[in-house]
Amino acid sequence: MISPRLGTPLSPNATRVLMLGAGELGKEVTIALQRLGVEVVAVDRYSNAPGQQVAHRAHTVDMGDPQALLAIIEAERPDLVVPEIEAIATDALAVVEERGLAEVIPTARATQLTMNREGIRRLAAEELGLPTSPYRFAESLAEVLAAAEAVGYPCVVKPVMSSSGKGQSTVRSADEMPAAWEYALAGGRINFGRVIVEGFVDFDYEITQLTVRAVGESGDVETFFCEPIGHLQSRGDYIESWQPQPMSAAALTRAREVAAAVTGALGGRGVFGVELFVKGDEVYFSEVSPRPHDTGLVTLRSQRLSEFELHARAILGLPVDTALLTPGASAVIYGGVDATGIAFEGVADALRVPEADLRLFGKPESYARRRMGVAVATGPDVDTARARAGEAAALVRPVAP
Ligand SMILES: Nc1ncnc2c1ncn2[C@@H]1O[C@H](COP(=O)(O)OP(=O)(O)OP(=O)(O)O)[C@@H](O)[C@H]1O
Ligand SMILES: [Mg+2]
Repeated sequence: MISPRLGTPLSPNATRVLMLGAGELGKEVTIALQRLGVEVVAVDRYSNAPGQQVAHRAHTVDMGDPQALLAIIEAERPDLVVPEIEAIATDALAVVEERGLAEVIPTARATQLTMNREGIRRLAAEELGLPTSPYRFAESLAEVLAAAEAVGYPCVVKPVMSSSGKGQSTVRSADEMPAAWEYALAGGRINFGRVIVEGFVDFDYEITQLTVRAVGESGDVETFFCEPIGHLQSRGDYIESWQPQPMSAAALTRAREVAAAVTGALGGRGVFGVELFVKGDEVYFSEVSPRPHDTGLVTLRSQRLSEFELHARAILGLPVDTALLTPGASAVIYGGVDATGIAFEGVADALRVPEADLRLFGKPESYARRRMGVAVATGPDVDTARARAGEAAALVRPVAP
């Protein structure tokens, strides 16, 4: 494990972190690391990605290319390799771990299992016995139809390798299936041609249970929980999140049991975003990110340490504190326009909303449905915080240059 002794950046004894992925989440992790004097190298597939703008150095490569990743790791010699996204050559990370070139966060195996819905679903449901939606895997139209018969309609069809809702659709009857199958084939990260068919869970609400594996007072890695985050999803992306999500004591206990089981099986250190569906006191495991979660952007204002600061501390072997300070909420700001070098109007109005703040990610290129920023707000209760975050986000108007 890394020694919790920190060096001086840009010197021979620097504590060096390689971020694989430099989006808005990687940017915040990088800022948290920078504040501890860690040297950060940020990698992304395009130049001037948000995290690259705040790192010591940047590389732009296809992170799906194992040779390219290994070449950077061999040249930079980081202490830690920290994936921010799923779509990377995880085989290269296994090589890095095997050869002892660097520590992979949380582990190379965790990145491999979670990048494929089949790996993590089989681990959670079949090995750990956790409750999930009923599911089948399929590789042809005939197989998806049979899978849907087995799990029942409505069902959700998803490529096994995809994120942010890409290629995913809810299917109500067999005649809708050919379109869903075509959509899944087109939306997979690589044209893998394999999908999961999940029974639709008619949940009351869904949460992200942020779970931190960090060195505790015992000196061993222990499991720490943040307050549950509620969120709304639309077309595969989160649009609004809030913390704490009110839950029954029984559901909260169950959520933490499930989160502890799955993160314990994945191992390593860092923040995990455990996505759970809740119906009454029943909790269903959906999926897990072995890294900070987009819905956790709310923690920038609601917690004493944001999920990004928690991740920075946990991966460095430092103590964590998951305390909530105040109810809070976040609301996404979409690009609205397809253009490069956009401007944001209405920022002053947004910042006049009580207890509201903004993060504008600095992405060089905007698309109508690309997340370009987020409004975060606090308040005496979640409803007030949500109203403020929503109002602030709506006041920001991205415009083409
Ligand atoms: N079996 C299901 N039953 C009911 N709703 C579902 C089911 N599967 C997915 N959803 C809904 O769709 C959303 C996205 O699903 P999921 O998290 O599996 O996709 P994703 O592409 O990995 O998304 P992301 O990468 O943004 O987390 C869920 O948060 C939930 O709202
Ligand atoms: Mg998800």
